[in-house]
Order: sequence, then structure tokens, then C-alpha cells
Amino acid sequence: MEEYGLQNKAQEIAEKISGVETPVLGFVLGSGWGGVVEALQDCRRFAYKEIGLSECGVAGHAGNLVFGKLCNVPVVIQQGRFHLYEGREVFETVLPIAVMKELGVRSVVLTNAAGGLNPSFQVGDLMFLTDHINFSGKNPLTGLHPTDKYPVFVDMTKVYDAEMTNLLALAAERAGVRSQRGVYMQVPGPSFETPAEILAFQKLGADAVGMSTVCEAIFARYLHLRVAGMSCITNLGAGMEEKEIRHEDVLQQSLQREKKFCALLQEFAKIYS
Ligand code: HPA
Repeated sequence: MEEYGLQNKAQEIAEKISGVETPVLGFVLGSGWGGVVEALQDCRRFAYKEIGLSECGVAGHAGNLVFGKLCNVPVVIQQGRFHLYEGREVFETVLPIAVMKELGVRSVVLTNAAGGLNPSFQVGDLMFLTDHINFSGKNPLTGLHPTDKYPVFVDMTKVYDAEMTNLLALAAERAGVRSQRGVYMQVPGPSFETPAEILAFQKLGADAVGMSTVCEAIFARYLHLRVAGMSCITNLGAGMEEKEIRHEDVLQQSLQREKKFCALLQEFAKIYS
């Protein structure tokens, strides 16, 4: 990580955080998922600005690193993420993952809002990621100096941890959330896809498409973290429905499900501990 100084940066940020219990689990909250922090006990919020992370520029993304207990499990929540479409460098989009690692996290749950490409999916479904297609045009490991502990030729055969995913699926069932499994594709955005692109992505084997998560998952695997991913299907891919796709509707759809997703993550914490 020397080339980018990413590890140093992550250490500097981690040192600014004190008085919190070592988190074992990290969550990255995507569009509309931010309310989950309300369920934390002994909550401590660090604004990104306060600890040296840059501010979030996207509607629906607050900029806080939040610590607390979720059903007695010490967690850290990245409330608001950084996207390539904001013009960020890829290392900036994964820096909070490096901070979580520095803080002692072993597993991360990455959440997002996504367009459904699989015709059997309905708006409001939750999709657990079984695999991904990196169509972002970037790789967060580009230019990193390989070390014995952190080689850069990271195996991507099983990015998403089956055991964590099964626990999340059980938690979804307990919280009454309809869930699916599938392949997530990250595109750079910020424009949504054309109908021709959606057809092409379906043929490539994607079940959902969005503008985040994959680079974070790659970086988390590089750091030997266990990873699970979930998408709230907020709309169907372009051309699969009559109506146009609007960012406000995407937010609205995932916000509507905030309470259920919160219950799901609480159920997950109960069985994870
Ligand atoms: N495409 C890309 N990203 C998205 C979508 C979509 O349809 N919905 C939510 N995020």
C-alpha cells in the first residue's frame, strides 16, 4: 500500500478515533440505508471531516463513521460512501475499508441500491451478492506494492463469504424481507444505463447493476476481510419498465424499506455473535 500511502492515511484516521470499543463487524451503508445507525446502542459519531476523510457529496449519503453496539455486537458503520462518479480516485472510495481494518474489523457487510436485471426480481427485493462483475473500469489494487502479507494477485473465486451470506439470509427471513441471490455488476455511472446496455449486461450474467461495492469488495478481500454484500433492488433496469429511472425514486424506494433492513441487520447481529 506504500505507493498511495493508503495504509498511513488509514492509520492516521484510525488514531483520531478513541474511546470506542474495538468493532468486529463493519457495515458500509449505501443509498437509503443510513438509518440503520439509529438502532445502535452507545452510539458515537465521527463526522468524516473531523477525522480527515473527505466529505460526502451525494444526496442520501451522510458522512459519518459511527460506532456502537448492534444487539451487543461492537460495530462500525460507514454512513455514506465515496463513489467513482463523484470524480474520486478509486483509492479514496476504498479508504474507509482500510480504516475499518486498522480498527480491528474482521468482516464487512456492503450494502447498496441497485437496478434489477433478472426478470424474476421485483422492486423492493433484497439481493445477496454471490459474485460480481467489475465493469467500473478501475481496480483498487492497481499500483499497490505487493508484500508477503498483502500480495496484489488476490484470488477472486469466492469473494462473498457463504457463511455470512447464509446468516444474512436467515436474518432476512426472520425480518420478513423477500430475498434473492445473484451477480452484481459495478458500472462507473453516474448516468443510468441504456436499454441496450441492460440487455448486454443481462447476457454477461449480471442480475443487478449499480455504481459501487465491487471495488470495496476487492479491497476488503485484499485485506483478508470476510465480505458479504446486499443490494436493495430499487428499480428494474432501463427498458425493463415503461418509466424513466430517477435518482430520487431510487432513494425513495430504499428509504421505504429502511425499517425492515434495520430489523434484518439487528437479526444478523444477534446470530453473528
Ligand atoms: N443502474 C445503476 N445504478 C443503480 C440503478 C440502476 O438502475 N439503480 C440504483 N442504482
